[in-house]
Amino acid sequence: MYIAVIGSGYVGLPTACGLASFGNDVVCIDTNKEKLKLLQSGIIPLYEEGLQELYESVKENLKFSGDVSDIKKAELIILAVGTPMSDDGSADLQYIYQATQDIKPYLQNGAIVATKSTVPIGTNDEIERIIDRSDVTVVSMPEFLREGYALQDFFNPDRIIIGTDNISVFNKLRNLYIQHIPSEKIIRTNRRSAELIKYASNAFLATKIQFINEISDLCEKVDADVADVAAGMGLDTRIGRKFLNAGIGYGGSCFPKDTNALEYMANKNGVKLGIVSSTIKGNHDRRFNIAARINKYISDIDGDARVAILGLAFKNGTDDIRYSPAIDIIQNITHNPIYVYDPKAMNNAKNVLGANVIFTKSLKDCVKDADVIAILTEWPDFKELENMTFDKNTVILDYRNILDEAIMRKKPHVTYKRIGQKI
Ligand SMILES: NC(=O)c1ccc[n+]([C@@H]2O[C@H](COP(=O)([O-])OP(=O)(O)OC[C@H]3O[C@@H](n4cnc5c(N)ncnc54)[C@H](O)[C@@H]3O)[C@@H](O)[C@H]2O)c1
Repeated sequence: MYIAVIGSGYVGLPTACGLASFGNDVVCIDTNKEKLKLLQSGIIPLYEEGLQELYESVKENLKFSGDVSDIKKAELIILAVGTPMSDDGSADLQYIYQATQDIKPYLQNGAIVATKSTVPIGTNDEIERIIDRSDVTVVSMPEFLREGYALQDFFNPDRIIIGTDNISVFNKLRNLYIQHIPSEKIIRTNRRSAELIKYASNAFLATKIQFINEISDLCEKVDADVADVAAGMGLDTRIGRKFLNAGIGYGGSCFPKDTNALEYMANKNGVKLGIVSSTIKGNHDRRFNIAARINKYISDIDGDARVAILGLAFKNGTDDIRYSPAIDIIQNITHNPIYVYDPKAMNNAKNVLGANVIFTKSLKDCVKDADVIAILTEWPDFKELENMTFDKNTVILDYRNILDEAIMRKKPHVTYKRIGQKI
């Protein structure tokens, strides 16, 4: 199949490379000239494990272009542009509607337009209205990939939801995947249900994170250990262990904006989603609570403390810092300077963090002579701390609970604190 992907970001690029690897001819369109320049010179301009290598292996079938008329031959056009959060919490749909206007003149007869961007209920009706062609079918095909596992999720998804009432279009899209993905994972729903499945899924996962974080706060007061509580809860197959890691709260380009957009949609329809609203507020407050905790440890140090922060990305495996709790926390640490390190997100963070932040070259440089070290992103690289020795008294705040507790507690000069244990 000849496929066009509109938007070459965290979703568009893995999707384009993955579909090209299935033998399709793919053109990936983007309006960002800087990004295009890199892509056209063979460089994937974001970090996602294995993506550069996959691109190298499929580049015969994959072309990048800034010229939207290159979609003319495409039977399938996938919309994968951003839908960021507006000031009022709703999804900002300007990019999706602009992309729709852009492709409209070049759609061939019988083209399928599939929206992978996360869009509020009814957005695909509006896309259909803008295109205004009875031969073109607009489908909701929400994307569920996780940054850091994008290729794993592309090649082994939990499900592919195809939201359309048009059975022959469903079959065409199903055929795109059927040789590579078990058929029972490919599900047809109506278009609006597909749109809502995406929001409901993200809100549920965000709620699970907020739930364990609240339980974690209780653990700290009653001398229980949230790691044990989560492990014990997770063994119940009805609950499951995933998304029960207490920490500093969720972030990224999806959960914050999608929970807010869902709340906005519900309010507009006169429905109260109390659990979602409480999750949004609790998660927002958490980053300030964590910053306050770090400030307290810093203020307890005699003399001028050296402060090291490990982790800037909203989670490991990505360079994405959108709505990263680590960034908000650093911005609320009342200390100067703050030494920071992240294996992949330094360049992105340089654009947003202030002059009080010193970007170091390595984990070792960052934590050298530190009085307080806080781990804010769960990069496995930070486990190297387990092998280090500390010559002076150092407080290590493991706010992702990634280090081996037994090892860290035995280290001379180290006061080791985890999240969800008695403070
Ligand atoms: N990032 C994720 O993990 C993830 C997962 C699932 C779903 N989603 C959803 O997928 C959508 C895309 O997310 P993303 O993280 O890939 O965004 P992104 O910001 O990384 O990429 C979007 C790209 O679209 C380009 N673009 C904007 N307008 C365009 C136009 N008119 N024509 C061509 N290109 C255009 C931008 O330049 C950018 O490169 C969002 O709706 C998001 O909610 C994201």
